[in-house]
Amino acid sequence: MGSRGTAAGNLTLAVSNTRLRSAVLPASAPTDAGTHALSANDVSVTYQSLRGKHIAVDNVSMTLRPGEFVSILGPSGCGKSTFLSVVAGLLPASGGEVSVFGETVSGPRKDIGVVFQQATLLPWLNVINNVLIPVKALRKSDRDYTQRAHELLELVGLSKFFKYYPNELSGGMQQRVGIARALIHDPNLLLMDEPFAALDAMTRERMSLELQDIWQASKKSVLFITHSIPEAVFLSDRILIMSPSPGRFVKEVVIDLPRPRTVQTMSSGEYAALCGEIRKMFDHLG
Ligand SMILES: Nc1ncnc2c1ncn2[C@@H]1O[C@H](COP(=O)(O)OP(=O)(O)O)[C@@H](O)[C@H]1O
Ligand SMILES: [Mg+2]
Repeated sequence: MGSRGTAAGNLTLAVSNTRLRSAVLPASAPTDAGTHALSANDVSVTYQSLRGKHIAVDNVSMTLRPGEFVSILGPSGCGKSTFLSVVAGLLPASGGEVSVFGETVSGPRKDIGVVFQQATLLPWLNVINNVLIPVKALRKSDRDYTQRAHELLELVGLSKFFKYYPNELSGGMQQRVGIARALIHDPNLLLMDEPFAALDAMTRERMSLELQDIWQASKKSVLFITHSIPEAVFLSDRILIMSPSPGRFVKEVVIDLPRPRTVQTMSSGEYAALCGEIRKMFDHLG
């Protein structure tokens, strides 16, 4: 992390037990980009609008190891989507650099899959053809990928629905199609921007369980964005906490709850304690 992150890492925290004390780490500096699925170094984004300049992301650094699941957790408007857009190659940074598997990101890449808050499926295509959209965009043959599309629909629990149209699916099912679509071209890095935010609480909980299974089966590196503390704690190996605007990483929390995490995990004392400690961190941020 940059010097700002390190300074903010000195926030005083009321950490109540020894296990949590060791789990709450100061922000760490990125190391050799070549060994990482993702490495961001001093990334800043300033928007210029009629209202003037707005610093959305301020000098942010992070790394993601291959196969790791890392969440960025922060309040609405703190710059999470802006940062993810830079990582995805959809928005140029005003400063700093991002590399994916050791290569500098300068535009959209084939080794990245993105899942957004809305599934944005094409209503006139059935499920299997929606999953195949990136294949068409990459000008590859559908036929080579149809088998894989069926396998992914099996992975996300929708194998029987491949001929259905989006309006015949629930919100949760549509998001699962969106996840299958993001994985069709076999990207090693999956970026997810609040993918379950539009879902009801029960579906959201079930999707977290399913996403863990999908992640463990697919062995992808995942950068997951959320403003839900319980969701971040349930899913992550590590959580990077972003301050209110302008976005900076102010803390890194290692979540060492055993995997696979289950419904029982969600009602465990350890889980509740981690959620509580993170909530307190946000209280300190104001
Ligand atoms: N295209 C844009 N032009 C100007 N300001 C923007 C633009 N996109 C986002 N912002 C501002 O940047 C800040 C961060 O936005 P965003 O990254 O969407 O936050 P988050 O995803 O954490 O909710 C917000 O204050 C938002 O209003
Ligand atoms: Mg957002």
